[in-house]
Amino acid sequence: MEPVVTQRLIIRRLAETDLLDFIACRTHPDVLPCMLEEPPITEEIAQRFLAHQAVLEIGDERGSITFAIHHIDDAKMIGEVNIHLLPKQQSHGEIGWLLHPDYQGRGYATEAAQVLLTYGFAHRKLHRITSMCDTRNTASIRLMERLGMRREGHLKQSNFMQGAWQDEYIYALLSDEWLLRQTV
Ligand SMILES: CC(C)(COP(=O)(O)OP(=O)(O)OC[C@H]1O[C@@H](n2cnc3c(N)ncnc32)[C@H](O)[C@@H]1OP(=O)(O)O)[C@@H](O)C(=O)NCCC(=O)NCCS
Repeated sequence: MEPVVTQRLIIRRLAETDLLDFIACRTHPDVLPCMLEEPPITEEIAQRFLAHQAVLEIGDERGSITFAIHHIDDAKMIGEVNIHLLPKQQSHGEIGWLLHPDYQGRGYATEAAQVLLTYGFAHRKLHRITSMCDTRNTASIRLMERLGMRREGHLKQSNFMQGAWQDEYIYALLSDEWLLRQTV
């Protein structure tokens, strides 16, 4: 995906120069409880991840890619959105997000996620995009609902995180539903 410029953001490929902002986002104490990584990401792993993402090509087969949410006025990375593409014949992608807490509550995640939905449906021609979150993650639930995603299920104890089994919700949006929202 070429960089996409929105009203306040650029959604672009991650770069090795994002290292400090990337670590700041992933290791903030308010964000850590939502992260799968235990213990928190190290500088070495972050460096390797960014180096890999900077050159990653997503072909026709399955793959996962993370984009930087770049704040135009502050000229820095403030979060990330990612899409995981399942095997092509399934035409299915999963999306996720993370914003540095200093930038939450201003609509940036919604703005970035809309770019990702357009990438998935319009460019990748996906049939279905899903997202999952812990049932206690109210900010993520509100975000999925703002994007027009439907709650399709409540998964009991589906994720072992922070030393305990957690319930998750699964939300989904179909390409037809997304298209309809583009015309209203
Ligand atoms: C999930 C997460 C990205 C949501 O961030 P967020 O800031 O709530 O979402 P947005 O950036 O879209 O902001 C929307 C909020 O800003 C408000 N807002 C303020 N100004 C706004 C504007 N100009 N435009 C749009 N919304 C605005 C909205 O009303 C909304 O508030 P509400 O949810 O209380 O109604 C964030 O909580 C996060 O990073 N959490 C940690 C990581 C995580 O949990 N990831 C998901 C794992 S499954």
